This record gives sequence, C-alpha cells and structure tokens, in this order.
Amino acid sequence: MNRSPHVAVVGATGAVGVEMLKTLEKRNFPVGKLTLLASARSAGKKLKFRGEELPVQTLTKDAFAGVDIALFSAGGSISKEFAPVAARAGCVVIDNSSAYRMDDQVPLVIPEINPGDVRLHKGIIANPNCTTAITLMALYPLHQAFNVKRIFASSYQAVSGTGAKAIEELRRQMEQVVRGEKATKEVYPHQIAFNVLPHVDSFLQDGYTKEEMKMQNEGRKIMHHPKFRASVTCVRVPVYRAHSVAVNAEFERPVTVDSARQVLKKAPGLQVVDEPAKNEYPLPLYQAEQYDCAVGRLRSDCALDNGLAFWVSGDQLLKGAALNAVQIGEELLK
Ligand SMILES: NC(=O)c1ccc[n+]([C@@H]2O[C@H](COP(=O)([O-])OP(=O)(O)OC[C@H]3O[C@@H](n4cnc5c(N)ncnc54)[C@H](OP(=O)(O)O)[C@@H]3O)[C@@H](O)[C@H]2O)c1
Repeated sequence: MNRSPHVAVVGATGAVGVEMLKTLEKRNFPVGKLTLLASARSAGKKLKFRGEELPVQTLTKDAFAGVDIALFSAGGSISKEFAPVAARAGCVVIDNSSAYRMDDQVPLVIPEINPGDVRLHKGIIANPNCTTAITLMALYPLHQAFNVKRIFASSYQAVSGTGAKAIEELRRQMEQVVRGEKATKEVYPHQIAFNVLPHVDSFLQDGYTKEEMKMQNEGRKIMHHPKFRASVTCVRVPVYRAHSVAVNAEFERPVTVDSARQVLKKAPGLQVVDEPAKNEYPLPLYQAEQYDCAVGRLRSDCALDNGLAFWVSGDQLLKGAALNAVQIGEELLK
C-alpha cells in the first residue's frame, strides 16, 4: 500500500461523507491526493479539505484509476454497482453500506475488536452497522472477560443515521410544530419531531426489522462468536446525532458491576460515565462529535442469570461510520 495513498470518498456530500473528510484531516491520515465523488447533482460543488476547496466529481466507472483507497458511503445500490469496479481497478474499498457485510469473502471490521481481519480482504472491507458498532464497543470487552450468551436491547437512534435529508426533516418539523403548523413528511412514514418510531429499516417476515437482526448477524461475525444471540428493538428518536442502546446481557460466567467496570475502564475507544448519584450517564447530546463511545447505568440484571444491564451511547456518524472507516484505512497502512 502506498504510504501517501490517493483516497477517493464516494458520497462525499452526504452526512457520512462530510464526516469522512473531517476525520481524515483531524487524524492526519497521510492522504497523498483526495478525489471527491457523488451524484451528478453535486458535480462542481466544492468541499474543504486541509484549507483547500476541492471540486466534487460525478461518480463514473473510470473514476478509480490511480486510487489506492476508496471510502464508500453512497448507499447499498451504489456500493453493489461500483465497489467491485473500484476493487478491480486496484484500490481497496472500505464500504459503509450493508451490501457486503455478510459476504464470506469480505471482512467486517471494528479495529478495536478484530483488526487482524483487515488482512483477509480481497479488495473490499465492510464497515459494520452503526448501532451494532456502538453496542459492541462495550459488549466485546465484557464478552472477552465473561463470555456473552445473549442480549436483549433497545436502540434510540438519531435521525442523522438516515442521512442528510432526515436531519433536515427533523429541523423542519420542529419549526412547523412550534409554529402550530402541520408537520410535513418526506423521509419517515410518521412525524419524527416530538415522537419516537419503533421502526428502523424494512420489516422481515418474522416481524423483526433488518436493522434489528444486524446486531446478531454482524455481532457474530465481528466477535467471531457464532452462537451469539440478540433480540433487539430499534427505535428512531428525535435526536440529531449519536445513537444510544439499552442493553441487557447474559454471560456464561458470573459478572459483578465492579468487575464489569474494571473491564470497561480499560476498553479502547470507550469512556465509563457512570455516576448516577451525580446525574452522570452517557447522553447522545454530549457524545456528538466524540470519537469515543460512552457506557454507564451499569447494574446487575435482576431478571437474567449472570446478567448485566448497561446503556451505551456513541456518535454513529463517527464510530458507526466515518471514524471506523478511517481507522480501517489506518490498519491498512500499518
Ligand atoms: N448516516 C449514518 O449514520 C450511517 C452510518 C453507517 C452507515 N451509513 C451508510 O452510509 C451510506 C450513506 O449514508 P448517509 O447517511 O451519508 O446518506 P446521505 O446523507 O443521504 O448521503 C448520500 C451520499 O450518496 C451520494 N449519492 C447518492 N446517489 C448517488 C449516485 N447515484 N451516484 C453517486 N453518489 C450518490 C449523495 O450524493 P448527492 O449529494 O450528489 O446526492 C451523497 O453524497 C449509506 O449506505 C448508509 O447506510 C450511514
């Protein structure tokens, strides 16, 4: 791998794409050259990187000549069509969509958990689902210590998880409601302002949503734990940025709050914020724009054997997307 790689960002104008640029710059990723790609709608638009205005170009099949690393965040159908083209052109694709996550030929990586899997790539590496990534930042260290059997969880997912248009939808609806007007809907099937929607992604035959099953399916692959079970309810909440997850986890080995806290304090990329007497627990408002996730509300689960309940919160545009992708890029350069 070129030590000063030519990096392309596909979907550069989107909610994740913009964070990719910021993260590459903030982490001093040794970008030799940067190519910004999006739809024809954005051609000619300029985005700032290291003080320079760079033009956005239209994504085409010959856009990847000379590119070493392509960070894709333009949706699953774009990844399906263009990621193999980019890989054939010789670059390593780091894909944010769900298109390749469960493909046996594609590693699915959280660098704090399974960095070694990066080496197994055949041109495409997948970034995990955002809710799964944030949950595993706390669950995996506990798994290493106590061996997790199963979890029950509910998510509280920010609108930015749906992209730039959903951020605008919440802002617009908030203003409409405050003005006493009827809230107009474009992105979600129901009003999201002053509401919560127990519906993220499409419904499967068994009643779960696709998003809900990602926790078990992707969790098994990332943790190398094929028996891991997860029953999840995913909920969209009127929060701009950062997802939170309430988790009840059952382990093979006995777990106490103190032993769990010791494990979590040492976990990379994770802060323990757990002083309920001082009203201190992780809050999405304060996790926005933070690289680390935060865990708190630790307590022995009163309804599970060897159970622990906790609350984890993290910026899904970062740890659930842009930061994790750039960290995978950093692994590639090691
Ligand atoms: N948002 C999150 O928290 C999050 C977390 C993890 C993974 N992801 C994944 O990341 C991807 C992007 O999400 P997002 O939230 O950033 O969405 P978004 O804000 O809607 O951005 C979509 C991006 O894709 C580009 N795009 C759309 N159609 C295109 C086309 N035909 N050709 C080239 N580019 C095209 C858009 O360009 P234009 O501006 O030109 O339309 C824009 O740059 C999705 O696969 C999503 O599942 C998102």
